[in-house]
Amino acid sequence: MADEEMVVTPWEVVGEIDYSKLMEQFGTQPLSEDLLNKFRKHSGELHIQLRRGIFFSHRDLDWLLERYDAGEKFILYTGRGPSGNVHLGHVIPWLFTKHLQDIFDARLYFQLTDDEKFLISQNLTLEDTLHLTYENALDVLASGFDPKKTFLISDVKNVQTLYRIAVEVAKTVTYSTAKAVFGFKESSNIGILFFPAIQAAPCFLESATSGRNVPCLIPAAIDQDPYWRIARDAAPKLGYYKPAQMHCKFLPGLGKGGKMSSSMPETCIFTIDPPKVAEKKIMNAFTGGRSTVEEQKKMGANPHICPIYHYERFLFEPDDAKLAEIENTCKSGGLLCGEHKATLAPKVIKFLKEYQERREKAKDVVSDCFIDSCDRKLQEALGLERF
Ligand code: TYM
Repeated sequence: MADEEMVVTPWEVVGEIDYSKLMEQFGTQPLSEDLLNKFRKHSGELHIQLRRGIFFSHRDLDWLLERYDAGEKFILYTGRGPSGNVHLGHVIPWLFTKHLQDIFDARLYFQLTDDEKFLISQNLTLEDTLHLTYENALDVLASGFDPKKTFLISDVKNVQTLYRIAVEVAKTVTYSTAKAVFGFKESSNIGILFFPAIQAAPCFLESATSGRNVPCLIPAAIDQDPYWRIARDAAPKLGYYKPAQMHCKFLPGLGKGGKMSSSMPETCIFTIDPPKVAEKKIMNAFTGGRSTVEEQKKMGANPHICPIYHYERFLFEPDDAKLAEIENTCKSGGLLCGEHKATLAPKVIKFLKEYQERREKAKDVVSDCFIDSCDRKLQEALGLERF
């Protein structure tokens, strides 16, 4: 895995990821101390994912915060490609997005790309991706978003909400640009060639609907960045603000190297995993440990390649002092991998149980959160007569 060439696209993440190199390749900016200080003015103590550099890069966040300070509110936009069950990796940017919704009191547009996943999959039917849209939407709501301020979009079912904007975006993007950004081939189907315009559309939805320019912030892992290059190119041509982004790193899978990815289900913890299943996966995970207990006690382990340590860092150990202690005792050989797994497992189980309870409750409200059935809600929110 380590010697594989790094490839990061919306559909493929392979090789060892060098995030500094990615920022350079994609032309994004690091989240500097100065910017984090500006952020702190709104959030108080920084969110765990900012303190620990999990969200690490951005575009135009400084601009967005300046506009906010000048009294201009922004919308949030993020999403999910419903190709299977939701895993803990997906939840990482959603928990941060919920934090942003809370501190900035922002409306969230959440896109479920049932078209994209149908178009790129060899075996998923449209029925499958539509069913997964519903299932994944329960996870979205279980992440804690305010249903009154959250608008879910199923591309296939709610396309009339997006199509006008998508067509306008599509006209600004040449085949050669799309090919350079996404690596399309002669064999790519024509649906996926148009799709980037559909993923760009929610960036401008509120501006198009309300008739005034509304800034947009997109929190997501950095694999989605190619889409925002298209959206940002199109924006000034259509008279909209360029959408701003915050990018996060990938939660690793339970195997050796690589991000948590549904294409390797055995290395994923899914939000619907029964506690016993999740526990078993954790106990069988790869670690940064040595081959024998004696060796580990003497030479210590490597937390930086260890998913168990990273789960604490991304999500499960909110106390920075305790995290530092875990890192140090791991390095010094004072913490053995079996012991560490056994202390992580109950934290994961608690998280999953609470998540699953909220997911169950979401069944009562989910259909009202899709944008068609909440047009009235959106009209009211925007103070409009007609949508
Ligand atoms: P999808 O379903 O591949 O991923 C959903 C979200 O999860 C992020 N992500 C991860 N974050 C941390 N660790 C991981 N291991 C991990 N794996 C995935 C993704 O970056 C994404 O934020 N085309 C999109 C759907 C979409 C979208 C959007 C995503 C439509 N509009 C706007 C973000 C923002 C997709 O297939 O995401």
